[in-house]
Amino acid sequence: MRFPAGFLWGASTSAYQIEGSPLADGAGPSIWHRFSHTPGRTANGETGDIACDHYNRYAADVDLMHSLGLTAYRFSIAWGRIFPEGKGAVNQRGLDFYDRLIDRLLERGITPSVTLFHWDLPAALDDRGGWLNPDIAGWFADYATTVFRAFDDRVPMWATLNEPWVVTDGGYLHGPLAPGHRSLFEAPIAAHHLLRSHGAAVQAYRAEGHHQIGIVVNLEPKYPASSSPEDLAATARADAYMNRQFLDPVFLGSYPEELRGIFGEAWPEFPAADMDLIRQPIDFLGINYYFRSVTQHDDDKLPVRAGAVRQPGHPYTETGWEMYAPALTQVLLWVRERYGPLPLYITENGAAMYDPPKPLDGRVEDPLRVYYFREHLRAAREAIRQGVDLRGYFAWSFMDNYEWSLGYDRRFGIVHVDFETQQRTPKSSALFYADVIRSHGESLGAAT
Ligand code: BGC
Repeated sequence: MRFPAGFLWGASTSAYQIEGSPLADGAGPSIWHRFSHTPGRTANGETGDIACDHYNRYAADVDLMHSLGLTAYRFSIAWGRIFPEGKGAVNQRGLDFYDRLIDRLLERGITPSVTLFHWDLPAALDDRGGWLNPDIAGWFADYATTVFRAFDDRVPMWATLNEPWVVTDGGYLHGPLAPGHRSLFEAPIAAHHLLRSHGAAVQAYRAEGHHQIGIVVNLEPKYPASSSPEDLAATARADAYMNRQFLDPVFLGSYPEELRGIFGEAWPEFPAADMDLIRQPIDFLGINYYFRSVTQHDDDKLPVRAGAVRQPGHPYTETGWEMYAPALTQVLLWVRERYGPLPLYITENGAAMYDPPKPLDGRVEDPLRVYYFREHLRAAREAIRQGVDLRGYFAWSFMDNYEWSLGYDRRFGIVHVDFETQQRTPKSSALFYADVIRSHGESLGAAT
């Protein structure tokens, strides 16, 4: 019933979603700063200018993490705070902010887990083509090296990229996320340079670092809606596009065959030497799991020609995602089966729900989110029981924050944020999670 000794109990955030003050202390603008300031791009024109004001309130936020019993905290570094132009001169005041944050975490006994890139590319690099420019692997490795030198003495766990699939699908193929392009031809090129950049940063870490480095991907298990050959083929395509597009190159050194069919004439031939760069041994894999997809053939859903089928009677979150915890166990087992028995972390897992904008009598009750966490933590425990080397769990998110183009009314936090006053209130899900942590999982009880 208990989780293994040393299991990390964490929560996650990302820089642009919580920090605010995006241009403070010499920072350069990111593509998200630009995108959110472009009319029509985000819900109600909302931006990350203030967000959770974590840039100024980080010390109290860390104290709150400590009071909940968190033993780890995953956050990202804003590349443009360190290199305002993306490359070239280092901005010491940007490093100083993360230096203070890391020290505060360590003083409170919380292990820092740092992600180098969580979508906020420096705008100056986007001006040079961003992820479409092959030189970006070198820029990213230089940025990574600077940060490793500054913090590897205190940070034991590093991730190169957060969810490269979302960057390419949302940022380059369909366009709801920055930089907002819509191009079938750009998407595989951006994906490839993201992967090369990951490989280059891992190489840089082997020269500079002494702990662990990995990558964070979002996995969405695909289940066929029927056993028809069309649905089975659509399920395989959807799985290749979303789940194997990034993991196969990293672990196996090749792209899934299905991608050629999906991208057609837009699929480029990539040099074999690139695949060697991408396939660097890594120390762990971070998995972000939110939901599964029951998949059927659909000619209108391009380019994959696969769509999701809603499951009658199943609960859905406010972002329209099915709550289905067994798929978390299955995806962890699938990763071990396909890519081998490396250490895994659940680096994000959580749910957006309707929460009151203000606490009622000082409390925020969120029973559906409690249900979501309980079922998914049990599913994680089941994977461990079946032999998966799962080393930690990070709830998304530590607090309500800027949900990208959806703005502030999609609340994912275990801590409620009143965006008018910046007051933090732990929701009942945070108190539930604190109990789980205190009992090392025992309070989860047996599966129902
Ligand atoms: C991302 C987060 C995001 C969350 C909820 C993940 O895809 O890493 O930045 O807020 O999902 O949508």
